[in-house]
Amino acid sequence: MRITLRLILALVLAAAAVVFISTGFQARQEQVRLEEELERRASVLAESLQESAEPLVASENLEGLRRLVQRFGDRERLAGIVVYASDGQPLAITASLPARFQELPEIAREAVQTDQGRDAFLVVGQQRWHLEVLPLHRAGQVGGALLLVHDASYIDVQRNGLWRQNFVRLLFHVLLISLITLLIVQWNLLRPLSKTIEWIRRLRTGELSEHESLPKGELFGPLAREVTHMAKSLTVARAAAEEEAKLRHAGESHWTAERLKEHVRSVLQGRALVVVANREPYVHIREGRQIRWVMPASGLVTAVEPILRACGGTWIAHGSGDADRETADAHGKLKVPPETPSYTLKRVWLTKEEEDGYYYCFANEGLWPLCHIAHTRPIFKADAWAEYQRVNAKFAAAVLEELEGTEHPCVLIQDYHFALLPRLIKARRPDAMVALFWHIPWPNPEAFAICPWARDLLDGMLGADLLGFHIQFHCNNFLDTVDRLVESRIDWERFAVNRHEQTTLVKPFPISIAAEEMNEPYTGGARPATSTIRENLLKGLGVTASYLGVGVDRIDYTKGIGERFRAIERFLEQHKEFQGQFTFVELGAPSRTLIKRYHDLGAELDAEADRINRRFQTRTWKPIIFLKKHHSHAEIAPFYQAANLCLVTSLHDGMNLVAKEFIAARTDGQGVLILSGLTGASRELHDALIVNPYDIDQTADAIHVALTMGEAEQRARMERMRQTIHERNIYRWAADLVSELARLRPAREPKVSPAAPQAV
Ligand code: G6P
Repeated sequence: MRITLRLILALVLAAAAVVFISTGFQARQEQVRLEEELERRASVLAESLQESAEPLVASENLEGLRRLVQRFGDRERLAGIVVYASDGQPLAITASLPARFQELPEIAREAVQTDQGRDAFLVVGQQRWHLEVLPLHRAGQVGGALLLVHDASYIDVQRNGLWRQNFVRLLFHVLLISLITLLIVQWNLLRPLSKTIEWIRRLRTGELSEHESLPKGELFGPLAREVTHMAKSLTVARAAAEEEAKLRHAGESHWTAERLKEHVRSVLQGRALVVVANREPYVHIREGRQIRWVMPASGLVTAVEPILRACGGTWIAHGSGDADRETADAHGKLKVPPETPSYTLKRVWLTKEEEDGYYYCFANEGLWPLCHIAHTRPIFKADAWAEYQRVNAKFAAAVLEELEGTEHPCVLIQDYHFALLPRLIKARRPDAMVALFWHIPWPNPEAFAICPWARDLLDGMLGADLLGFHIQFHCNNFLDTVDRLVESRIDWERFAVNRHEQTTLVKPFPISIAAEEMNEPYTGGARPATSTIRENLLKGLGVTASYLGVGVDRIDYTKGIGERFRAIERFLEQHKEFQGQFTFVELGAPSRTLIKRYHDLGAELDAEADRINRRFQTRTWKPIIFLKKHHSHAEIAPFYQAANLCLVTSLHDGMNLVAKEFIAARTDGQGVLILSGLTGASRELHDALIVNPYDIDQTADAIHVALTMGEAEQRARMERMRQTIHERNIYRWAADLVSELARLRPAREPKVSPAAPQAV
């Protein structure tokens, strides 16, 4: 309020000063104009009178002179006329002229002496006069003078009138404009500003509820965005500080982003950190004229992105978005995350042939079904293998370029897209510390050996110093495969492979999530009750139900989504009392849809959900809602928070992070996780209801157990699982991986001028 008052006062004073000066100037100009006009008029009149008066003076016709001055004496603004003799005595004078003009004034005397006309303004008391004098001639000599006296006080009156009028009018206009400006400022600036201030105050004092967002508007849009980010960071920092304090108090060993950052800094001691993964964490896509980014549905991205956020470094990935090129620089680089840039994303561009052969065909129609025992036959094509080699070489070149000028850099390669990359990098940069983490299962030697290029893949992988899998079982399978297919010495004590003077350590690192950050969506205040979130979700989906189940997957045949639907059907057959009561929502992200198997799967699942719905649905309820689209973390969060159960029924899965995300979201300690025993996650989450997804009856029973489980048991199970994922979070995973890698000293120094790997 004080600001507004000050603003008004300042505006009024400034406006008044400006108007005062400008109207004063105008009035002065008007005065000059009027004076000039009077001078002109007086001079013309004096000259015409001079012509008439001179013969009368010459003939000493006083009567004629008197008539002349009387005739002209009543002209507009003319106060009077005087004709003087050469000795200064008035010969004729207008009767109304003040007596002081009886005497020859000074300027008339000068005119007579110099024989030249004169004029001047004269102020007498309150009155202003204009005097115009011309000499009168008699026989070629100056014989007197003619004086015209004008009353000039009207000039002051007009000037003052004009000034007053203009001043009032202009002041009114300026004040009106100032008032309008003030109102605009008040509405568009001061109000949102005071709301923002109040919002920040409430945020600081923790009074804010999650529904209260910052004032929006054109002016405040960018500020609101920045402050929201700041508020989020503040909330996260506050939560982290509270967590740290709690942990210090409890004396527990817990990994946080901050701790990882410090740890990686001390372990790497300034060495570069480079992550290579096919999938990029931020994909820029075009929507009409707008460009926006999405975070793709990928367990790998969910897990690895928080590490880069915490530690910085470079993530090298395929630039797959249709607006990726426009959002990166000439080197394919950009700083991410878009809101709080903290690391570099370097995009590698692939041709359509490369993407088809390397990604769709060899990696996803070959290696993916080869490693997942889901009974989809792998397809191996020589052309695709050639593209796989070519793209691995392309990525190797991109990595080596990034490593130029660094010493003993740390390279973390992700997944089955890059089996050849470790060897390609180590061949050029033996000083680099290279780890390859395999995010999917590793099958037994018989299964893997069907790949025509099994030995080449193993050779590429064994270029790494460290090989990671989610569980020991996959490590064992890998070592068995190496034992069976390539010449090497396996150290079963250390779980290491020695080959061509290179040692590769093979270890399990069960991947996880940034558990605390899953609870982030609320910026302050209390989260609504679970039942309220559930009611809102079901209402939004247009169904009436009491129980909600959720599944979150990429639409992939390894995820057992069809089996899940059939288990729900079985459950409703067996427990009719849940018909009309239980709705299952599957949030399915379309994935790899250019592959026929994936494309067909979407339609198969639609048909299966429709078939089951037709069997049971009523006017206001249906058992399965299959939402086939990309869902952001924020869209998924309320489903995790409110579901009575989460179904993870993968037919085979390296880890499965959906299971962990569901647990992380359950701050209320409620909800039941039904988890496939064929996932890596089932080795850690013993309090889930573990099922064999192929056994439809068993999964149906588990759904019943989950929906009838008492609150106390739900809480006890959930608390234990929450403890597990908080203790073994993604920061601990990264710390273990980097520490292990740093412990392995690279054998040789870098070559002086490494040649780039050649594409085949
Ligand atoms: C699995 C793989 C990841 C992959 C993700 C999504 O989790 O292990 O490497 O990123 O699926 O698949 P996409 O093919 O879309 O990257």
